[in-house]
Amino acid sequence: VLLGRSPLPRPEPEWLASAEDEAAVRKAILKNEFSGNHVSPMQLQETFRKCMANREITRNLDQLKMTGATVLYYSADVRDAERMNSVLDEVRSAHGPVKAIIHGAGMLEDRLIIDKTPEQFERVFDTKVKGLSVLLEATKHDDLRYIVLFSSVSARMGNKGQVDYAMANEVLNKVAQQECVMRPNCRVTSINWGPWDGGMVSPALKREFERKGIELIPEDQGASCMLYEMMGDKSCPVEIVIGAGSAIGAWSGSRGERTEDSPQPLGKDKLSLTFKRELDVDRYPILGAHILGGRPVVPFALMTEWLGHGALHENPGLFLHGLDDIRLLSGIKLTDEKKLVRLLAGKARKKGAVYEVDVEIRNGMKDGKEVIHLRAKAILTDTLAQAPLFSMSEDITSQAYFRSIDEVYEKILFHGIELRGIKEILSCSSCGMVAKVSSAPSPEKWMADPLRSNWIGDPLVLDSAFQMAIIWCFEEKGVVSLPGYGASYRQYQNRFPSEGVTAVLEIRETAEHKMKGDFTFLDPDNNVVAQLIGYEAVMDASLFKAFKP
Ligand SMILES: NC(=O)c1ccc[n+]([C@@H]2O[C@H](COP(=O)([O-])OP(=O)(O)OC[C@H]3O[C@@H](n4cnc5c(N)ncnc54)[C@H](OP(=O)(O)O)[C@@H]3O)[C@@H](O)[C@H]2O)c1
Repeated sequence: VLLGRSPLPRPEPEWLASAEDEAAVRKAILKNEFSGNHVSPMQLQETFRKCMANREITRNLDQLKMTGATVLYYSADVRDAERMNSVLDEVRSAHGPVKAIIHGAGMLEDRLIIDKTPEQFERVFDTKVKGLSVLLEATKHDDLRYIVLFSSVSARMGNKGQVDYAMANEVLNKVAQQECVMRPNCRVTSINWGPWDGGMVSPALKREFERKGIELIPEDQGASCMLYEMMGDKSCPVEIVIGAGSAIGAWSGSRGERTEDSPQPLGKDKLSLTFKRELDVDRYPILGAHILGGRPVVPFALMTEWLGHGALHENPGLFLHGLDDIRLLSGIKLTDEKKLVRLLAGKARKKGAVYEVDVEIRNGMKDGKEVIHLRAKAILTDTLAQAPLFSMSEDITSQAYFRSIDEVYEKILFHGIELRGIKEILSCSSCGMVAKVSSAPSPEKWMADPLRSNWIGDPLVLDSAFQMAIIWCFEEKGVVSLPGYGASYRQYQNRFPSEGVTAVLEIRETAEHKMKGDFTFLDPDNNVVAQLIGYEAVMDASLFKAFKP
C-alpha cells in the first residue's frame, strides 16, 4: 500500500507521453497547458512537479505489479488523521491487519532561519513528526512487526537552511528508540540516509554533491540496505547511518545477505558509547569541594547520577526507576591533566513491567588500557511504581546527636562548602541516624555544560547520605568510611523536593572493615521519595589521613 498526497495517477496526455527529458517536458507543458502564454516560473514548476509525480507513481506501480505484487495507491496526506484512519480501515478490511510501516514522507524548504516562515517550518517538520504520530496512532491496535523511518544524516550533522528538517529527523530517531523499547516483537529502525541518487536530490543538488566529492547512494543498493536492516533482530542498533561509501561496501552482497566484512550487530551484552566527558576542576567546580588525599575525586553520588543519564539517553520517554548492583570498581581521581571518562549503555531488555539497561563509566582508554570505574544495571519504566510505606523505628530516633553541623564538617568530614548538604542531625544511635539534608542546586551551578538541565536523582542528597554513613562509622566505630556498593536504588518521584528531604540510615550489619545499611529519603509529608537498600561502605582507619591530610 503506497500513500502520497498526489491524486490517483491518470494516463498521460499524448503531447506529454513522448517527452522524456526535463527540458522536453517543460517545453511541452508551456505549449499545451499554457498555450504559449506568459507563465510565472513558479506556476511552470508546480505543473512540471505534478506531471512528474503522476509519471513516477504510474511507473512505480507498474513495476511493482510486474513482480506479481498486489499494489494499492491511496491519495492521502500523512498529517491528516481522519483520512489516514479511513484509508487504513479500508486496507484492513480488504487485506487484514497492518504489519509494517515505512514512513518515508518528507519535504524540503531550505532557507536560513531568518528567512524561514513559521508555515514553511511547520510543513517540513509536521510531514515527518506529525505524520509519524498520526501513523502510530492509526495503527495502535495493529501488531506491527516492522517500523522503518526515513531519517537523514542531517539529523546529527545539521545542514545549512535545514533547521526544520534536521530537527524533524532527529525526532524520528528518538521516537524510533522509544518504539523499539515499547514493542518487543517489532523491528524498529530509523535510517539516517546520506544523499541518494534520486528522490529529493535534484539535478542541481546532485552537481553540488559531485563538486564536494560526496558519493550518492544508488537507488537499488539503498533499497537492499533497508531490507538488510529490516532483517535484523532486537539486538541490532535502532539508529543506522547509511551513506554511499560505508553502506555499499558492507552490503554489496545479494539482497538481505550479510557479506563477510559487514558490521555485526551489537550482541545483547555489548555496550555502546553515550557520552564522553573531559573532567577538570575549571569545568566541574563541584570537584573542588570533594578533595581526597589532596586530589579532586568524582563523588560516587555524581557518578551514579551519570549512570542514570546514560541509561535514559537511548530510551527517551522512560523514567529512571532505579539502579541495581551499583559497584564502584575504581574511583575517578583527577591529576594535573584533564581526565577523559566515557559513559556506556547497553540495549534495554524488558523484564516484567520494567526495562533493564547495563551501564558503565569507563576511563578514556589511555595507552590501550581501559578501566571500569562504576557499573550498574539501570531500571527504567514508563510509570513510576507506588512508593512503599515507611515507618521509623524508635531505636533510631531515641538518641539526640551532640555535635553541631559546623563541628561535623570541621572535625569528621572532608566536604567543601558546596557539598555540605547535611542541615541538621536529628538523631544518632547504634541502630542508625536521621538527618535533614538539602537538595542539589541546578546542575549548571556545579558544572559547565551539564548533560541535562535537571537532575534525575539528587546527587547532593545521595552524597549527604554517604556523609551520614561516615559520621555514623566515626561515632560508633571510631573510623571513617567511603562508599563502595549499593544493591538497589529505587526512586518513586520524578524529582526530589526542592526543599530537601529527611534521610534515614538504618544499620543492618557491620564487620571489621565494612558497614551495611539502608537509606530512606522522605519528603516533607513523609512520603518515600527514594530508597537505597544494601548500601555498603568500606571502613578504614587510614582513610582519615586522606580526609584530613
Ligand atoms: N533523497 C535523499 O537523498 C534523502 C536523504 C536523506 C533522507 N531522505 C528521506 O527519505 C525520504 C524520501 O525522500 P525522497 O528523496 O524519495 O523524496 P521525494 O522524492 O521528495 O519523496 C517524498 C515522498 O513523500 C511524499 N510526501 C510528502 N509529504 C507528504 C504528506 N504530507 N503526506 C503523504 N506523503 C507525503 C511525497 O508524495 P506526494 O508529493 O505525493 O505527497 C513523496 O512520495 C524523505 O523522508 C527524506 O527526508 C532522502
